[in-house]
Amino acid sequence: MSWTAWAEAELDAIRRADRWRATVAFDSRGVEGTLRGRDVIVFSSNDYLGLSQHPAVKRAAAEAAERFGAGATASRLVVGTRSVHEELERAIAAWQRTERALVFPNGFAANLSVLSVLGGPDVTVLSDELNHASIIDGCRLSKATRKIYRHGDAGHLESQLTATPGRKLVVTDSVFSMDGDVAPLEAIAALCARHDALLVVDEAHAALGPDLADLPCELLRVGTLSKMLGALGGWVAGSRSLIELLINRARPFIYTTGLSPADTAAALAALQICCSEEGAQLRAQLRRNVDMIAPSHPSPIIPVILGEDRAALEAAESLLQHGLYVPAIRPPTVPQGTARLRIALSAAHTEPMLQRLREALQSLGMQR
Ligand SMILES: Cc1ncc(COP(=O)(O)O)c(C=O)c1O
Repeated sequence: MSWTAWAEAELDAIRRADRWRATVAFDSRGVEGTLRGRDVIVFSSNDYLGLSQHPAVKRAAAEAAERFGAGATASRLVVGTRSVHEELERAIAAWQRTERALVFPNGFAANLSVLSVLGGPDVTVLSDELNHASIIDGCRLSKATRKIYRHGDAGHLESQLTATPGRKLVVTDSVFSMDGDVAPLEAIAALCARHDALLVVDEAHAALGPDLADLPCELLRVGTLSKMLGALGGWVAGSRSLIELLINRARPFIYTTGLSPADTAAALAALQICCSEEGAQLRAQLRRNVDMIAPSHPSPIIPVILGEDRAALEAAESLLQHGLYVPAIRPPTVPQGTARLRIALSAAHTEPMLQRLREALQSLGMQR
């Protein structure tokens, strides 16, 4: 069988299982845009504070491209570091209250780096079963022994830690990307302190918290510049020694071209807004928007679990008919039988937009 014939057979199987994926060009104008010729309101993006569209962020990107050129042109360790990279890393370290920070081409590479560098053969990595794919792949890339604990179950983690001799690393999303729920970080950190484990927390979706201040254990923080900060890139923040070890050993940092000057400058401008009064107002607006759809829900990610893949696809299509772009999420992104709509809210959504979403969900019998 030729490779092409083999690929066709694989694709047929994907289609038959309702797992077909394809990119669709979307003409984006912030939280509005045009999809397949239809004007829609977007509830699919991770631009939680709307900063990808902020005039100061866009201006910073344009000015950096003008000043430094389009690309970083080489690995950061060769000739790819610009002053704007260093400025952004200082700003992230100050924001996260850590000694140092390092930026990566994306959040996926940040997780691969942390877990491959720290997960040596003498280490056990304990990972929440619903952690992001980049954490799962980072665990696979590491040489550590791996243990998976039940989602958000500090009791299960405790029994695993108790049964594990030697050096230990616990890794968890702070906000889970497909459920929008929050890890029990205080309980996990207390366990890490008791068992001398390093805690690695992925804060990719932590637009509304939780705040990690004053956790009692050793902590390494991972995040992305691509969601709340509306740009592109990943970051790791922690002690000077851990960051210098990543610079010396992390292959997804060493053997790849540095983050583009435009993305770096955009993230820096977005972070400055985030840490200002304007940022506090945007977060308060996001909080109000979440409360309008799911009162007191801890994050801007609101799942509507429908079960079968086809049900999720049909629900997404019905919402599209209402001019609302909400993605259907299917296995393997989520466990079998838990296909869902994933509603992602932004501070940039207006009350009438949220009202339309609420009414459409009600009319389809899908209110939360
Ligand atoms: C929890 C989590 N970690 C990491 C990533 C990867 O971030 P990036 O999109 O910057 O590669 C994502 C993004 O999808 C995520 O949801």
